Amino acid sequence: MQDKLETLRQMRAKARLGGGQKRIDDQHAKGKLTARERLDALLDTGSFQELGRLATHNISDFDMGSKKYPGDGVVTGFGKINGRRVAIYAQDFTVLGGSFSQVQAQKICKIMELAQESGIPVIGLLDSGGARIQEGVRSLAAYGELFVRNVMASGVVPQISVQMGPCAGGSVYSPALTDFVIMVRKTSFMFITGPDVIKAVTGEDVDFSTLGGTVTHNTLSGVAHFAADDEQAAFRIVKEILSYLPQNNSEDPPRVTPYDDPARRDEILDHLVPDDSSVPYDMRQVISSVFDRGSFLEVHAHYARNALVGFARLDGYPVGIVANQPLYLAGVLDIDSADKISRFVRFCDAFNLPILTFVDCPGYLPGVAQEHGGIIRHGAKIIYAYCEATAPKISIVVRKAMGGAYIAMSSKQMRTDLAFAWPTAEIAVMGSEGAVNILYRQELTRAEDPEAVRQQRLDEYTDKFYNPYSAADMGQIDEVIEPSYTRLRLINALEILRTKVASNPAKKHGLMPV
Ligand code: HXC
Repeated sequence: MQDKLETLRQMRAKARLGGGQKRIDDQHAKGKLTARERLDALLDTGSFQELGRLATHNISDFDMGSKKYPGDGVVTGFGKINGRRVAIYAQDFTVLGGSFSQVQAQKICKIMELAQESGIPVIGLLDSGGARIQEGVRSLAAYGELFVRNVMASGVVPQISVQMGPCAGGSVYSPALTDFVIMVRKTSFMFITGPDVIKAVTGEDVDFSTLGGTVTHNTLSGVAHFAADDEQAAFRIVKEILSYLPQNNSEDPPRVTPYDDPARRDEILDHLVPDDSSVPYDMRQVISSVFDRGSFLEVHAHYARNALVGFARLDGYPVGIVANQPLYLAGVLDIDSADKISRFVRFCDAFNLPILTFVDCPGYLPGVAQEHGGIIRHGAKIIYAYCEATAPKISIVVRKAMGGAYIAMSSKQMRTDLAFAWPTAEIAVMGSEGAVNILYRQELTRAEDPEAVRQQRLDEYTDKFYNPYSAADMGQIDEVIEPSYTRLRLINALEILRTKVASNPAKKHGLMPV
């Protein structure tokens, strides 16, 4: 018996070393932790239960016989984060560059299936050169197995991917199917084909970082949602995200013990919106004043900054926030912000997070590039996402709600439960200059003093529409509220909506204009 125990201990010790001490040292030299060190850093101490530690590949071609490592380049199992269960896998770059094999797929798919059935979030720590080249089509098929699990778990349990190394080929598509992608500055890269292949095919010269580094994917492509300064910071982001989310789509999001007075009034809000409606202000100020202090976690903070999305708490309850940001491009809706908003709205809806929308938007961005880029198709996603969402929805028109933006940004007609407006709201089909030019073109052409007539018509238009009252008069706004009371009004409104039940017609699935 003792011999058998000793054999097991030796095998487990060998597995702990992954690809061996030399490669572990190389990993550390690159500023990266090993797979097991990462699990220790992220999970509650002593909570990890490993599965598949001794699995190895069974491939004999391409001289793979000498390259057998227990675990086959991925550590998989279940653990806890702040006392809540998670399914987790960490790819081990010290074993064949963390390359994705048939056995890796079996191990990861196993925990994903258990997680989906038991309603447990899935976290992937990725550090992989993509499909294991020596396994040929087996590793490609293995990706297919993984993608199916990602898609089946989508909207059932939250899925978070942390890119912790040079993730290439197939190891970018699984993260792309998950809900949130976190990248680590300097050490994390994502690309389908690397610089050498690009050079050969298109002749373009590009380095790893420009092609698929953390800044590129957080600012330009929108593939990544968070940029972490180092691995520890990435783990803090994982913990923060999870703190707002239910374990699965049949649970309510977790409330924390409230720590901020529900009746707190920040009077700065009563003076925040400038009288001149072309002058910007920071929508983040609205968010930080209204929601529980310090509770805002911005998602996609560096991408499409004319929109703001993220999680926060109201009286301890998690919510999703969508807002226009007048500081960037006057808060217009464009292709990228449409993608950002619609994706976030759908995520919140899938996991029962109330969606609170703060509107200050002059409309969709005019321009040939936007039209040719498909602003019609992309912009329609926002409409689709809000119309489809059955989670509690509240909108607050802070300032401009012009034309398509008024309707798209959670208007009452699109199944928004409660629509509020500040007295500074301007709700109109279009801005005054454009409207007067169209409506009074002939009068302006004939006028002796066109400037005086234009000014008079502008004043009339502004008086009529640059306020929330005609919308309130028609019942399109439920209540015009004093800005500094927004926090209390939203807390009370959410209390009403907490038990909301709504559904959509039975169908196989809708056809979102992707
Ligand atoms: C097998 C691999 C591997 C792979 C790396 N290795 N990638 N082994 N299959 N895909 C091995 C290396 O041979 C090396 O082994 C070890 O991992 C470390 O790799 P290095 O190159 O020394 O590390 P580094 O310099 O840090 O470069 C990392 C890298 C590079 C950028 C990821 O290895 C690379 O470009 N790999 C190939 C990336 C790629 O093109 N993948 C696409 C595969 S096709 P030794 O024994 O020397 O330590 C694909 C399609 C799927 O994924 C599509 C699904 C939809």
